[in-house]
Amino acid sequence: MAEHPAYPVGLRLTGRRVVVLGGGQVAQRRLPALIAAGGSIVLISPEATPSVEAMADAGEITWERRRYAEGDLTDAWYALIATGDGEANARASAEAEHHRVWCVRSDDADQATAWTPATGHSEGVTVAVLTTDVKGRDPRHTAAIRDAVVEGLRDGTLVARHHRTRTPGVALVGGGPGDPDLITVRGRRLLAEADVVIADRLGPRDLLAELPPHVEVIDAAKIPYGRFMAQEAINHALIEHARQGKAVVRLKGGDPYVFGRGMEELHALAEAGIACTVVPGISSSISVPGAAGIPVTHRGVAHEFTVVSGHVAPDDERSLVDWPSLAKLTGTLVVLMGVDKIGRIAEALVAHGRSPETPVALVQEGTTAAQRRVDATLATVGETVRAEGVKPPAVIVIGEVVNVGLPAARAPQPS
Ligand SMILES: C[S@@+](CC[C@H](N)C(=O)[O-])C[C@H]1O[C@@H](n2cnc3c(N)ncnc32)[C@H](O)[C@@H]1O
Repeated sequence: MAEHPAYPVGLRLTGRRVVVLGGGQVAQRRLPALIAAGGSIVLISPEATPSVEAMADAGEITWERRRYAEGDLTDAWYALIATGDGEANARASAEAEHHRVWCVRSDDADQATAWTPATGHSEGVTVAVLTTDVKGRDPRHTAAIRDAVVEGLRDGTLVARHHRTRTPGVALVGGGPGDPDLITVRGRRLLAEADVVIADRLGPRDLLAELPPHVEVIDAAKIPYGRFMAQEAINHALIEHARQGKAVVRLKGGDPYVFGRGMEELHALAEAGIACTVVPGISSSISVPGAAGIPVTHRGVAHEFTVVSGHVAPDDERSLVDWPSLAKLTGTLVVLMGVDKIGRIAEALVAHGRSPETPVALVQEGTTAAQRRVDATLATVGETVRAEGVKPPAVIVIGEVVNVGLPAARAPQPS
């Protein structure tokens, strides 16, 4: 065969006969994409792997339990030849050549008239990688290039901005607890495509430094709010930027809906008729204890965990938390925004029945380079916070789970 590079093309197989010879591992790997492409697939093989058999049972392919016979490829548009019998493969590929059916051969790529590229998908795009060097074909290298491109597109490290499909509007993105690696893949991609980012103090601030210079980054805490309340001023800024046709990301710490006012922003945007998407994030309420070696549940120790806001004291009439009931629970209590009031919270829990010896851990700036853990009990925590100078943001964990971690995990280094 002439030593020219393969010509890349996308086959539209919907309803078209595709013949697969051999029901082994090669068929098992290739069939899902052929099924997804809508091919009318006939498998000809005396045996099949359990996964291939399941596809036949589900009606996704038609399975003829026999060996290849001359004439099987007559009406095919495309063939995958992958039996364990080299001689049958050679006969089948000669028949494919005769009938001008493009065919892939698992045992002899040189004799094939088509090659399968390494493929991956991201956001409505198929990435297909073929080698150009006919002699030096290196499937692992093409697969590695595919992985690098797809991975980069997914996590936003490879930026390919949408032009036709990119819709202006707002994305409320949960950024996770602070470590830039702990944002979701979707959140990272939207960030990479933003024109404007309005960010909170908490969350993955390091990611902002990586944004290209044309992206306008606005610190939510510094939005002037003159005649508005702070939250209204943020809503107003989101709406105004979106109305200018920009892609706006509202980057929030943790998850947008855990003490994050995400739904208030969503309502304001809906009222203004602005399209909005919400991307969940890893909440500090679980990840920050975890980063300090504390599981919020543990078999035989805690079968529940309750996340509460400690931003107002238990005796404050604005508090919506039922502290007397919480004191009766035996599981884990996770308190957010509670550093200032933890002394009074601990007193309320003890007054309503929780043991003063209950362990407490405060994890400050979890998952960041400044992470710090301070341990106490309900009896001592008020004084410990003062003595140790614990400052927000911190997650406070109350319960026996505080003591179940590995000793080495007591002060883990954030990665
Ligand atoms: C307004 S709430 C937002 C919570 C956020 N939506 C979430 O899901 O994690 C802010 C509180 O979250 C906690 N917090 C958030 N990030 C933290 C971190 N990296 N380390 C410790 N506490 C954190 C602190 O209790 C802080 O006062």
